[in-house]
Amino acid sequence: MGLHLSAGGHLANQRRLLSDFMQLEYLLAEARTAFEQHYGQAPRWIAGAPGRVNLIGEHTDYNDGYVFPMALERYTVVLGVPRHDPRVRIISLADPHPLEVSLDKPLEPRSKGFWGNYPLGVMAGFLERGYRVPGLNLLIHSSVPLGGGVSSSAALEVAMATLLEAAMAVRLEPVEKALLCQQAEHRYAGMPCGIMDQFIAVLAQPGHALLLDCRSRCFQQVPMLDSDVTVLVINTQVRHTLTGSEYPTRRRQCEEAARIMKLPALRDATLADLESARSRLDPTVYRRARHVIGEIQRTLEAAEAFRDGNWLRAGELMYASHASLRDDYEVSCRELDVVVEAARAIGPDAGVYGCRMTGGGFGGCAVALVRTAAVSEVQQRLARAYWQQTGREAVMFVSRPGRGAWVIHGA
Ligand code: GLA
Repeated sequence: MGLHLSAGGHLANQRRLLSDFMQLEYLLAEARTAFEQHYGQAPRWIAGAPGRVNLIGEHTDYNDGYVFPMALERYTVVLGVPRHDPRVRIISLADPHPLEVSLDKPLEPRSKGFWGNYPLGVMAGFLERGYRVPGLNLLIHSSVPLGGGVSSSAALEVAMATLLEAAMAVRLEPVEKALLCQQAEHRYAGMPCGIMDQFIAVLAQPGHALLLDCRSRCFQQVPMLDSDVTVLVINTQVRHTLTGSEYPTRRRQCEEAARIMKLPALRDATLADLESARSRLDPTVYRRARHVIGEIQRTLEAAEAFRDGNWLRAGELMYASHASLRDDYEVSCRELDVVVEAARAIGPDAGVYGCRMTGGGFGGCAVALVRTAAVSEVQQRLARAYWQQTGREAVMFVSRPGRGAWVIHGA
């Protein structure tokens, strides 16, 4: 299957283009109206940044490996006007509690889990780099599902950073901007994430997935223009509240494995290295490392398969990724497994090439690669299977690769 657009595909594509455009326009219209209601004037600047879905390459970013995400056509927008005092007020349409900050004092994180910690951390990053953040009245609105493993937090950080760039008439280097946002998440939200989410939110190009080398930070934009194939995101609508220590624990286990193998990171290990070190590794640490080493390899192969339009191969690698995340890395959950097994049962002949959990895990979303002509049928079958086996409703949407952060108004 090549990159040609069949006549039917072309029409379907145009219809989708229109509806995506309307979705963003709709989001912006709601946000502008709310802004004027709250602040009594029109916004001077508007910036946006996308959520993302990771096609493959999970829990590899903090091991210096490869990731292969694409931006979603779901965006977070930040609207703003200047104020005459050194204060920032931010309203989020998703939460009744606004954020109020005085720029005269050091910016401290607020209570854990408060959305305002993300923009606070971003402002702190600019201040630390010597930028003079001005007084601002801001409002945030988003079509990125919150807490669904599609990186609503990076969308918020990067949209905020882009708004500040516009308001200060400066432009950070893209890599610097992604790192500033990652640091905000580490320091102000207490989440020691890798660099995938902020990078894709900054660097995404419409119609492309991003193959990112998390060590060198070199990247390739991989075209995804075959309108016969569609990315379907399936939100399990569950988020298992674990102790919150799972992610840092996995990171530590990976670091331990690399240390015992005397390597800078798991990126540098082969499966043969791992086997020779097996007797020196705790069995759990061994399995964690086996996931990461295998996943890095799968990610490179999958990027190749996507580039060649070899959807069957791409799909097999997605299933293999899921099995490894479930069995070796232990970050899946029953609901995600149900979706992936239902997808596998539908199979490529009925339109599903592959499916896997995406993002950090323990709930959130799965991602499937589906033949475009079969999308509605597949959605119905997945919804039915998920309902029958979990008693829950899955929320699904399709997306082409969206765009990276941009100043929508007032550049
Ligand atoms: C979260 C983190 C990312 C990455 C994924 C797992 O989304 O923010 O940096 O580690 O988990 O691949």
